[in-house]
Amino acid sequence: MCWTLFRIKNIRTICLHHSLFSTILTVLSIQMIDCQWPPPLPASFKELRDSQFFVDNTHLIQDALNGPDHSLIRARHGFGKTTFLDMVRRFVELDVFPNGTVNTDKHTRKNYDSFAKIVPSSGRFLTVFQNKSFFETNFGAYPVIFLDLNLKGAKTPDSTDLARYLLNGTVKAAFTHHEYLINSSFIHFEDKNLMSRFLVPSDNENVEKYSPRFAITLLRKLLRQHFQKDVILLIDNIDGPLREVLFDPGQDTNATFAKLDVFGSIFEEVPDDKPPLLTLMSCIIVPYYRWPQYVTNSSIHLDGFFDVEMTSLAKLAGVDHEIEQISTWYGGFSVFNPESIVRFLSIAMKEFKPYWSELGSLETFKVAFAPQCFGRQILECYQECKLWMLGGADISGMSTNIVRKLKILQKLNFPVQAAECPLDTFPHFIGLLENLGYLTFTRRISRSSTSPLTFSAFKVPNQEVKEYFARLLYEAIRRQIPLNGDVNFRQELFEAIAGVDGSEQRMRRLTSALVTLLLASERRNQTADATLAHSIRVHLLHPPPEFKVPYVKTSRSEEDSKNQSDFDLVFVLKYMTATLGYVLKIESDVQPTVNRTLNSAYLDVFSTRKFDNVFNATVIKVAANLRCGICDVSGEHICRLSYLFNDTHLEREKQVDVKKHQIAEEARTRWQKF
Ligand SMILES: *[C@@H]1O[C@H](CO)[C@@H](O)[C@H](O)[C@H]1NC(C)=O
Ligand SMILES: *[C@@H]1O[C@H](CO)[C@@H](O)[C@H](O)[C@H]1NC(C)=O
Ligand SMILES: *[C@@H]1O[C@H](CO)[C@@H](O)[C@H](O)[C@H]1NC(C)=O
Ligand SMILES: *[C@@H]1O[C@H](CO)[C@@H](O)[C@H](O)[C@H]1NC(C)=O
Ligand SMILES: *[C@@H]1O[C@H](CO)[C@@H](O)[C@H](O)[C@H]1NC(C)=O
Ligand SMILES: *[C@@H]1O[C@H](CO)[C@@H](O)[C@H](O)[C@H]1NC(C)=O
Ligand SMILES: *[C@@H]1O[C@H](CO)[C@@H](O)[C@H](O)[C@H]1NC(C)=O
Ligand SMILES: *[C@@H]1O[C@H](CO)[C@@H](O)[C@H](O)[C@H]1NC(C)=O
Ligand SMILES: *[C@@H]1O[C@H](CO)[C@@H](O)[C@H](O)[C@H]1NC(C)=O
Ligand SMILES: *[C@@H]1O[C@H](CO)[C@@H](O)[C@H](O)[C@H]1NC(C)=O
Ligand SMILES: *[C@@H]1O[C@H](CO)[C@@H](O)[C@H](O)[C@H]1NC(C)=O
Repeated sequence: MCWTLFRIKNIRTICLHHSLFSTILTVLSIQMIDCQWPPPLPASFKELRDSQFFVDNTHLIQDALNGPDHSLIRARHGFGKTTFLDMVRRFVELDVFPNGTVNTDKHTRKNYDSFAKIVPSSGRFLTVFQNKSFFETNFGAYPVIFLDLNLKGAKTPDSTDLARYLLNGTVKAAFTHHEYLINSSFIHFEDKNLMSRFLVPSDNENVEKYSPRFAITLLRKLLRQHFQKDVILLIDNIDGPLREVLFDPGQDTNATFAKLDVFGSIFEEVPDDKPPLLTLMSCIIVPYYRWPQYVTNSSIHLDGFFDVEMTSLAKLAGVDHEIEQISTWYGGFSVFNPESIVRFLSIAMKEFKPYWSELGSLETFKVAFAPQCFGRQILECYQECKLWMLGGADISGMSTNIVRKLKILQKLNFPVQAAECPLDTFPHFIGLLENLGYLTFTRRISRSSTSPLTFSAFKVPNQEVKEYFARLLYEAIRRQIPLNGDVNFRQELFEAIAGVDGSEQRMRRLTSALVTLLLASERRNQTADATLAHSIRVHLLHPPPEFKVPYVKTSRSEEDSKNQSDFDLVFVLKYMTATLGYVLKIESDVQPTVNRTLNSAYLDVFSTRKFDNVFNATVIKVAANLRCGICDVSGEHICRLSYLFNDTHLEREKQVDVKKHQIAEEARTRWQKF
């Protein structure tokens, strides 16, 4: 049953049942917005060019035809790969009658209107139409083979199965599209017999012999014979099988890995000296196949919306005053996420929330987000994270070897111990996140002019992805240490942080909450101090609704020591009328009872220039240091919180001590999930 959202005269928004009211409301000519979720995107180039949010990128057709003969088209999910290939196909493909003759009357040619008519949203002709000579030469001029290798969730356990799947779907569709060839007088009847095999695939076909690559080679030959012209080969989702293997945890046998090799060989059939006229292949993750030389040399990157494009669309939708928010949410790729922008702009409510359909693909890699695995490094990517690379090598195609490593990561279970997490997989995981668009490359940093060692730096592009990561990071700490998922405890933790007022009682409450969490991770043999700081950051990024967290430091700064396992906790928390700014250092296995642990570095954090807008006069400033260890006098395990509450005089430092065994006893009775 679908509920449909109507906006009446742009004043009130109500939800009505579709079948009951749609007729009446149509008569009243009230704007109707379908509540289908996520809001649908234009399905084809034709729909897109006629839609309100069309950005003319038809110059890319010229780039593709005038550029290198064979290119790999890289784009993130939702950044326009399929639309791009659909557009090229509609532009270049011959219009063939069912009897196999070519329609030479250009005005009645299929797709003529799509390319030659004025665009409704801009009132202008398409760029590609404005170049008359290019249009005349190339519009509707070539036979095209189009293949979509998106497996759409199908499970193909081995290469035979994959071949059958492709023959029954992708390959059959390609042959059916050119069915007229079966009556062509230019084609030998033996080839026609072969063609019939692919038009009506049999369930027990010998797929070794009549393989997808055999089929594509045949089709190309037949088209050449019929039209006396070479073909343009368009392949969408060339990484379909790779993504299937990567994201399906069930696919981890040698038989599935072999699929990747066999699949790549589709392209080996096309000899380097006689490639098609033009090959365009699209992918999200660059697969490492044994490509023919000619393919790997050139790649086109589809970027997304540029600044001016996004701005003009926002103006069109009447939200140009919200450009900054739109950038925070859907920008950050140096361009904007077109899928999110169009979805955001096309709903009536203009609500800032995640719209990108890619979000969710990491469900099978959740363990990687545990603090014992890559969680802490990934959190650093909120600002900037660095990856060591020897020689500054680019992240190249994803080989079977890398896929195997990522599968090991995927197979880990919660709770994970640090020793189980394959650290050498980290660069590949970052590479995967970058390919998928969850991270963007920001810069390359050389350690020194003589050293071959460079850092590549990445960041999480925008709020949409940050929210998704915050969810994964939170789920990871919850599944590592169940106390993190205890709602009562979470409430206590936030109230304890927000409730300090300088009194010893409130400071003790804060200390107890922190030490409780510390104990919970120690009981699970985890590097406790680093995990504690990380867990608190993750809680802060994912607070209960009544608490607001305007700032959390997520990345180490130049001042944080290089070999420290973790960096200071710095954050701002708002609750009711109070705004508190914290700088908190956590140390374990140290002598807890030394006097005077705070120094001017703590206070400097509050006055650092870049925090001007964060720690202003209205913020109550709390500087604190939590040290846990064995007391040299009593021999007991204690934790001491040294603090300054809204005070800048270091000599006024105060302390509260708690005994760990007491906290543990309290926690056992008080928190169900301790
Ligand atoms: C093929 O079909 C088209 C359109 O129906 C027609 O105009 C044309 O004459 C036909 N060609 C032949 C050779 O029959
Ligand atoms: C128009 O297309 C022709 C042929 O592709 C090309 O050589 C020329 O540079 C194009 N002109 C413009 C203005 O883009
Ligand atoms: C091929 O020709 C036969 C006989 O003229 C006709 O019945 C059939 O529909 C044609 N097939 C195609 C795909 O055009
Ligand atoms: C082939 O595809 C059709 C639907 O397109 C499906 O019903 C059929 O089961 C498939 N056959 C095989 C062997 O996969
Ligand atoms: C799978 O392949 C790897 C690498 O080629 C090999 O070491 C391993 O023995 C194979 N496993 C099985 C079960 O065949
Ligand atoms: C691709 O690059 C390689 C190495 O850079 C070069 O040898 C080869 O000729 C190039 N191929 C094409 C088709 O440009
Ligand atoms: C913690 O480590 C000890 C000793 O190495 C081991 O016996 C215990 O099972 C571990 N606990 C957990 C929760 O892994
Ligand atoms: C790094 O660690 C070593 C040994 O733990 C210590 O001696 C050194 O002072 C540390 N360096 C910094 C900058 O903290
Ligand atoms: C440290 O603090 C204790 C009390 O907590 C006090 O007795 C002692 O004199 C202090 N030492 C120094 C060097 O200030
Ligand atoms: C001070 O900072 C808080 C929290 O960042 C912010 O809400 C408030 O508006 C700021 N006040 C001024 C005057 O900048
Ligand atoms: C915190 O300090 C600031 C300035 O030092 C002062 O204006 C403010 O009233 C203090 N707030 C509290 C709650 O003590």
